[in-house]
Amino acid sequence: MRITLIGYGRMGQAVERVAQARGHTVVGVIRRETPPEERLTLAQQAEVLIDFSHATAVPHHIELALTTQRPLVIGTTGWDSQREQYAQRVREAGGAVLYAPNFSIAVQVFLEQAVALAARLLQLEGWDLAIEEIHHRAKADAPSGTARALAQRLQQTLGKAWSAHLPEQGRLPEDQFHVSAVRVGHEFGTHRLLLDGPYDFIELTHRAKNREGFAYGAVRASEWLRGRKGFFAFNEVLNEILSTGRID
Ligand SMILES: NC(=O)c1ccc[n+]([C@@H]2O[C@H](COP(=O)([O-])OP(=O)(O)OC[C@H]3O[C@@H](n4cnc5c(N)ncnc54)[C@H](OP(=O)(O)O)[C@@H]3O)[C@@H](O)[C@H]2O)c1
Repeated sequence: MRITLIGYGRMGQAVERVAQARGHTVVGVIRRETPPEERLTLAQQAEVLIDFSHATAVPHHIELALTTQRPLVIGTTGWDSQREQYAQRVREAGGAVLYAPNFSIAVQVFLEQAVALAARLLQLEGWDLAIEEIHHRAKADAPSGTARALAQRLQQTLGKAWSAHLPEQGRLPEDQFHVSAVRVGHEFGTHRLLLDGPYDFIELTHRAKNREGFAYGAVRASEWLRGRKGFFAFNEVLNEILSTGRID
């Protein structure tokens, strides 16, 4: 498969390594400074576009994919508030876009289990929960897209709102749970669900060992997306993606 990468930072380079190992070819790289005409050419050369760039640029990359009629896999985070608007735009224009705030397959399984565990325990008296995420200093958004996705799912399941902010004075309201972000060094990404009960404390942690796991999920997603139309969320089509090929 011919791939054009949009963004060639830590993740773009990891995608290149994984894609090549799976027999694909990176035919183009679109960087921040790439002029518009060159972007069009680089996109047209590819069968699929994979975006790990910056949130502010995602709408332009969606338009590029629609103009060139190329499927687009988006791993860039921090644009969630515009997601529904662009999902509709993609569907109306007959495009193909697949998005995940976290392309790690293990994280998707972790999220499912975390929600199920919390739902079970929060039915009991005196239980509370919180989410903690830890990432490298250079991460551009907080809380992480994955922490937001988990918080969102827990909010829907438990009927409790999440908050990334603690009041400087006073307490976190009873009907909210806390999502905290830590930025330190070179950490690839840790997500932790904390469940606190009257007699027990449970921590469920996922820790990425490198960036290859995210890249692997994004490449598998791009293989699946070719030839399809619509706006897809990775977690919603994961089983289908996994059934179309073996996990290496
Ligand atoms: N979904 C997932 O599984 C997953 C996993 C890890 C990270 N992420 C997300 O992926 C994104 C990238 O992460 P990263 O660690 O690779 O960041 P990074 O190392 O800072 O790389 C970002 C790259 O995007 C480029 N860029 C910025 N604006 C652009 C534009 N308008 N057009 C083309 N390229 C542009 C930057 O170019 P310059 O070098 O010129 O600045 C840089 O090379 C972030 O949003 C991060 O949160 C997602």
